[in-house]
Formats: sequence, structure tokens, C-alpha cells
Amino acid sequence: MKVKTADVSKLYDSYEVLKRINMNVDDGNIYGLLGPNGAGKSTLLKMLSGLNAPSLGEVYFNGNALHIDDGHVKPLIGSVIETPVFYNHLSAYENLSIHLEYMNTDHLTIEEALTIVGLKTAGDLPVAKFSLGMRQRLAVARAFIHLPELLVLDEPLNGLDPKGVKEMRALFKKLRGQFDMTLIISSHILNEIEHVADEIGILHKGELLTEVSMQTLKINYPDGIETFFFNMTEGDG
Ligand SMILES: Nc1ncnc2c1ncn2[C@@H]1O[C@H](COP(=O)(O)OP(=O)(O)OP(=O)(O)O)[C@@H](O)[C@H]1O
Ligand SMILES: [Mg+2]
Repeated sequence: MKVKTADVSKLYDSYEVLKRINMNVDDGNIYGLLGPNGAGKSTLLKMLSGLNAPSLGEVYFNGNALHIDDGHVKPLIGSVIETPVFYNHLSAYENLSIHLEYMNTDHLTIEEALTIVGLKTAGDLPVAKFSLGMRQRLAVARAFIHLPELLVLDEPLNGLDPKGVKEMRALFKKLRGQFDMTLIISSHILNEIEHVADEIGILHKGELLTEVSMQTLKINYPDGIETFFFNMTEGDG
């Protein structure tokens, strides 16, 4: 098990944003975290990346309790959560270079990473000139360039055109296959993860309603998982 949470809850004041989450992410899987706006996806992903601590419960990474001050775990996890921040006056190349200095571990070359995400020719441009989709690609490159074991991506397909979406999906599979990464990808659009996930977790109003393998879903819902999703989130039972 790459990541596991044990009764993880998050409270802001007395408002419970996440309610006793028990999540299981297998080694080498692509895990799709699905949920509507406000379900708690970003909040949960921050905890799985060690960027925020649970109010209650524990997150386990490789079987060990994960704490936000664990320096040695830092290079093992790559993440893009909510809106990525860059030095806008610096080039894509320089932004990745600063990141690598900070991570201080084995890594792909900057050229390799930029090529993989289709930004090879934009490496010298200041990030301020990037389109939304280009920023998203650069954010993903920054998250995997240091070859983490776990890649956590919060709505990584936002801002990409159909061609970009297709390329990004292929990239997720490549990262898993070629570099043995485990991926957790959130989305509020079913169709976005359906084609790439091995396992799906549905988060709704702070609760993890179910975890199910895509294989099981495809057998039970041959017409697609839309029906499954609506049954889970709309039903009262
Ligand atoms: N720092 C915070 N303080 C107070 N409430 C917060 C904080 N961060 C998140 N929340 C609340 O937690 C809930 C879940 O937010 P979160 O951003 O995790 O949802 P989400 O599933 O990522 O939504 P979206 O699809 O819109 O990105 C929301 O009701 C939000 O208002
Ligand atoms: Mg969010």
C-alpha cells in the first residue's frame, strides 16, 4: 500500500470539511479522486502530500505515519495542488532549476521534463507569457522532474484543450509505467478520470462514499460510470 489514511478528519473551526476518511491507494496504481466542487478534494490531497496536517487521524506513506516536517519524505512526493505558483519573471527552465536545487535528489534533466510535457520550445520564455494550459504543463513537469514515488495532481486537466487532455492522460500512464510512480488525480469530471484510473474514490460532502476498481465498475456499469456517480452522490441511501 503506497498511501493509506486512517480515520482522517479535518476541521476548520467546528466545521468538518473531511469526515473520517479511510483511503487506500495501491502501489503503482492511478487513483482517481472524484467529487463535486467543495467536496474536500484539495483539502485531502494537501494532507496526502504532507502539506497540511489532519485534525484527527493519520496518513500513512509506505506504511509510515506521514508528518509535515518529514524532510526525507519531501523528494518522494510530487504535487500540484490548486493554482501552482511560479516565479513569473523567470523562464520555465529557471523555475525548474530552482526546484531541483531545493529537492537535491536524482532527477530527469530539465530538457527531458520540458520535452515530455510538450514545452521544449518554450523553456526560455518567462512564465508570465505562458497560457493557462502551458502553466498547467509546467506545474506537472515540476511535480515529476525529481522522480517522486507518489505524484498528487489536483485537477491537472484544468485549462487544457482536448489535445492537451489526451497528451496528459498518456503522460500519466507513462509516468506509472516507465518510472513506477503511483498517481492520485482529482477531478470533478467523471470522463476525465474514467479512461486513466485503475481505482476510483468518490468524495462527497467530506465523506469518502466508496472506493472501487475500474474493472468492477466496467462490469457493473458497461455504459459508463456516470450512472454510478449519480447513484452515489444524488441518492439518499
Ligand atoms: N482554510 C480553510 N478554512 C476554512 N474552510 C476551508 C479552508 N479550506 C477549505 N475550506 C472549506 O472546505 C470545503 C472543501 O474545500 P476544498 O477546496 O477541499 O474542496 P474541493 O473538492 O477541492 O472543491 P473544488 O472542486 O471547488 O476545488 C469547502 O467548503 C471550503 O470552503
Ligand atoms: Mg479543489
